[in-house]
Amino acid sequence: MTHSLADAQRLHLERLEREYACLLDALGYDGVLLYSGHPHRHFADDQEASFATYGHFLHWVPLAGVTRSWLLLRAGQRPALYFHAPRDFWHLPPALPDEAWTQRFAIELRQSETPPPLPAGRFAVLGEVAPATAAALGAELNPERLTAALDELRVCKSDYEVACLREANRRAMQGHLAACDAFRGGAAELDVQLAYLKASRQRESDVPYGNIVGINAHGGVLHYQHYDLKPPDRQHSLLVDAGHRVRGYCADITRTWSGADADSCFPALIDGVTALQRRLIAALRPGVSYVALHERMHDELGALLADQGVIRCSPEAAVAAGITRAFCPHGLGHLLGLQVHDVAGRCRGDGSPLPPPPEHPALRLTRELEAGMVVTVEPGLYVIPMLLDPLRDAPVGRDIDWTQVERLAPHGGIRIEDNVLITAQGADNLTPGDAG
Ligand code: GLY
Ligand code: MN
Ligand code: MN
Repeated sequence: MTHSLADAQRLHLERLEREYACLLDALGYDGVLLYSGHPHRHFADDQEASFATYGHFLHWVPLAGVTRSWLLLRAGQRPALYFHAPRDFWHLPPALPDEAWTQRFAIELRQSETPPPLPAGRFAVLGEVAPATAAALGAELNPERLTAALDELRVCKSDYEVACLREANRRAMQGHLAACDAFRGGAAELDVQLAYLKASRQRESDVPYGNIVGINAHGGVLHYQHYDLKPPDRQHSLLVDAGHRVRGYCADITRTWSGADADSCFPALIDGVTALQRRLIAALRPGVSYVALHERMHDELGALLADQGVIRCSPEAAVAAGITRAFCPHGLGHLLGLQVHDVAGRCRGDGSPLPPPPEHPALRLTRELEAGMVVTVEPGLYVIPMLLDPLRDAPVGRDIDWTQVERLAPHGGIRIEDNVLITAQGADNLTPGDAG
């Protein structure tokens, strides 16, 4: 860990100490106990499912994957970390790193995974905790107002958090470039995935979400979840949506590449989506409505589809008729941080709900942008038969050039996704440039 990152983390923790003290006071609590969580076993098995440490715990303790540990926070007291480090000859026991942040915490290494006893007073306990455990502690379990207020504390990132997100992006991009090389060398989806993991230096269980590696039509399956073992006979396209995690903070990057057998219309569409993504990023600044930006994505997709001859009507008519939504059914993006789809994207700063417009139900960010937010910007354009086929016989079907759709179908789809910090002046793209 560099000195500057340690300094930035100190400021990050000082801010958390101040903000937690204010919130606890305002809501009438003497303290809050955060639980890291623990993995669950498969039914009737002794194997554990994958696990993610609770975000509010990670906001303080930069150890992604830590389990069965507790953090007690009280105004004016050192944060108390009850760190589960059992004596165990089956596994390497968890250990704390030799880093400056540990000095700020009162740390107890524990064999036990039970919660620490709480002093007298009004306490909340947050995390995946059994109601009986909370009742035995005499603490309120996951109270909504406190949880919403702590979610809000995670919306605007500190310099430390931005540094972690930037580094996660740097490492993820190394994976993306290697994935592209592997594809150009004729790899199967599994080999692309392995090339990604190798170049980005991470094991599969550590990625922030299951990497999406879709060759050809699989690129049109939004959350495609398999890896073909056999290289394709023909190489039309590759879509990779994959990230990295640094000290808990997630990158979430997508790139789309055309293959040796791509139709000539496909590289032009990739260029078009890339250009419109850059225009949307250039429009990011505090005060901008992300819903308005999402709607602009649809206007721009309408224009691109018209330019490329995929539709015959005006862009405005394509948006109004829902044609662009059939080509891109997901949202423009979301908040990013300790969770890939970070908390509080669909509420106001006071925690009140801010649902997406009914015609855009998948949009995960409905707020006005603020300096310090980190958002993804991920326009897409896909041939998804389940969404397009019903339009064939509908009146709007006359406005679609189905021959063009058939030419595109073997390429699946396009998504270009970067991670962007909103600054006072505009935006700072945390995703490094690439050759594609
Ligand atoms: N990787 C999931 C997403 O882009 O939201
Ligand atoms: Mn993604
Ligand atoms: Mn995303």
